[in-house]
Amino acid sequence: MTTASTGQIWDAGRYQANAGFVPVLGAPVLTLLAPAEGERILDLGCGDGALTEKLVACGAVVTGVDGSAAMIDAARARGLTAEVMDGHALNYSACFEAVFSNAALHWMTRPEPVVAGVARALVPGGRFVAEFGGFGNVAAVVTALTAALNRRNIDPAPRNPWYFPTVEEYSALLIRHGFVIEDIALVPRPTPLPTGMAGWLETFAGPFVAGLEETERQAILDEAVAAMAPALRDGSGGWWADYMRLRFRARLGA
Ligand code: BEZ
Repeated sequence: MTTASTGQIWDAGRYQANAGFVPVLGAPVLTLLAPAEGERILDLGCGDGALTEKLVACGAVVTGVDGSAAMIDAARARGLTAEVMDGHALNYSACFEAVFSNAALHWMTRPEPVVAGVARALVPGGRFVAEFGGFGNVAAVVTALTAALNRRNIDPAPRNPWYFPTVEEYSALLIRHGFVIEDIALVPRPTPLPTGMAGWLETFAGPFVAGLEETERQAILDEAVAAMAPALRDGSGGWWADYMRLRFRARLGA
């Protein structure tokens, strides 16, 4: 178990139970990447390596990086090449044909150094292909947590660990760093939650309630879950996440 720069605590076992669907839903961005035999690919925010393994199976030579030591241990246990590295401080220079990322960039709240590091890591003409939470992602979740914190006079802004940009904002960022955008879109993807909203919050929303006394912490989470029910619980009592993905393929100018 480890804490990354956002204060998020990662546990590979709990992640698998509450969010094992995340790599399964990575198929469209893998298709957009179209990894080729022998290509050197950096998997940025590789987590436990479930998708990294698929890149390797395509014949690519893959390096995974993640800010969480627990996740890197899990990736290495699959036999993958992986190292602990903060995505804001990538330490590579012109050594990958592609940088790939799934469900990770929204945890990197200073996107400027992230994209600068990706551009540095790529060879000229290399591609950056990724999917992550875009503008409006988990909006009902953020709104409910924000309201529960505000009611207790706790400022939610410094606790929010997520970055969900618009197409326009992220496009401008990519262009500033020398990329030509080949494809970019916001894609709504309501996603069923196997362990309900409480399980999802336990895995992902820790920073909103970090450091609070246990009774208050639980009260905030319960209140937020109750507020989300009208929007995110279906007629059979099943919970859904209101995911909105930002998916793109961009190429570094030669
Ligand atoms: C996402 O995959 O969109 C996501 C996951 C955890 C927290 C926030 C967003």
